[in-house]
Amino acid sequence: MSDALLARLDRISDPGSGKGLAEAGRLDGAVIDKGVATIVLKADADEDSAALKAEIESAARELDGVKRVRVITTIQRAPGKPHARQRPVKAAADAPRPAKRIIAVAAGKGGVGKSTVAANLAASLTKQGQSVAILDADIYGPSIPRLFGLRDIKGLKKGDKGIEPAQAHGVRIVSMGFLTKPGQPVVWRGPMVQGAIQQFLNEADWGYPDVLIIDMPPGTGDAQLAIAQTIAIDGVVIACTPQDLALDDARKAIAMFEKTHTPILGLIENMSVFLCPHCGEASEIFGHGGTRAEAEAMGVPFLGEIPLTIELRERSDSGEPVAFGKGPVSDAFARASEAMLVSADEVRKPAPDIVLTD
Ligand SMILES: Nc1ncnc2c1ncn2[C@@H]1O[C@H](COP(=O)(O)OP(=O)(O)OP(=O)(O)O)[C@@H](O)[C@H]1O
Ligand SMILES: [Mg+2]
Repeated sequence: MSDALLARLDRISDPGSGKGLAEAGRLDGAVIDKGVATIVLKADADEDSAALKAEIESAARELDGVKRVRVITTIQRAPGKPHARQRPVKAAADAPRPAKRIIAVAAGKGGVGKSTVAANLAASLTKQGQSVAILDADIYGPSIPRLFGLRDIKGLKKGDKGIEPAQAHGVRIVSMGFLTKPGQPVVWRGPMVQGAIQQFLNEADWGYPDVLIIDMPPGTGDAQLAIAQTIAIDGVVIACTPQDLALDDARKAIAMFEKTHTPILGLIENMSVFLCPHCGEASEIFGHGGTRAEAEAMGVPFLGEIPLTIELRERSDSGEPVAFGKGPVSDAFARASEAMLVSADEVRKPAPDIVLTD
């Protein structure tokens, strides 16, 4: 910032507040470089700032050494007016939200560790002191009950505040698995799946947690549609393994979510390297780094790598997500969950329109 320029601009009063422009927080930048004064003025979407810009230009020109003036206007959206890069407002966006943040974990392909990643991201956030809930929306292969040691739960009770989620490790959990018998072929039709998911989202007593994680079924379909029609989620995390085939499927999943205007929070590479339980040596069984390169190529954030370990599988089977404990895998989930929240914050920010005027 150039002090002389800033002081001069502060003598211009902000039409809205009557304060000086600097004091009113209207200036995002004011520099003089090689005879060019560049001023970044914050404006509201409906504000006509032409007169103010003219005043800024002539004031800046008065200063010694200024030959040219550029005023750049960044337009801040008025509340309720979505920016083009944000999702269009649908009825779902106005529905009451069951949580402060709602993040889905999905994959283009089955078996890449989507549920493992969902459960451990939830565990990691809980460990960091956030209140967390999980909706297991995978009717065809619900695995959250196993991952949280809740295999014996059959059915859900309805209390005063709605459907009562099960609880494990401080996480409120509603799973489609609580409604179906293990091993029974699922005969649910699409509308039933949609109805159950919508009812869970709207009627479960989630306790308005900091984060609601949704474990999505693989592929495209009924569950995705039901969620898109019920609430506007913050975004989706795509789990992927490093093989080319899995990456192809991740690309398809991203394209599908982009069609429903769901923000992509990023990619997580699961089963990235094998960590030997004896010597700790890392081997690249499926290759390594493909997901990061793919994320870069697609312009979506890369949230981290989760190693393939025997401990992770064992702890998953015994209902104790590894991210509750200590060690390299838990650390990897901590980093990924932090990156995920940063990405969710970024998606929420309205992108300013930059208008260049000389
Ligand atoms: N990083 C890992 N290290 C070791 N085992 C893993 C890892 N990730 C997942 N697994 C194991 O791989 C299997 C599949 O994982 P998971 O059930 O999470 O995948 P999914 O993508 O949710 O599958 P589905 O498509 O059936 O829902 C599980 O047995 C799980 O314990
Ligand atoms: Mg799963």
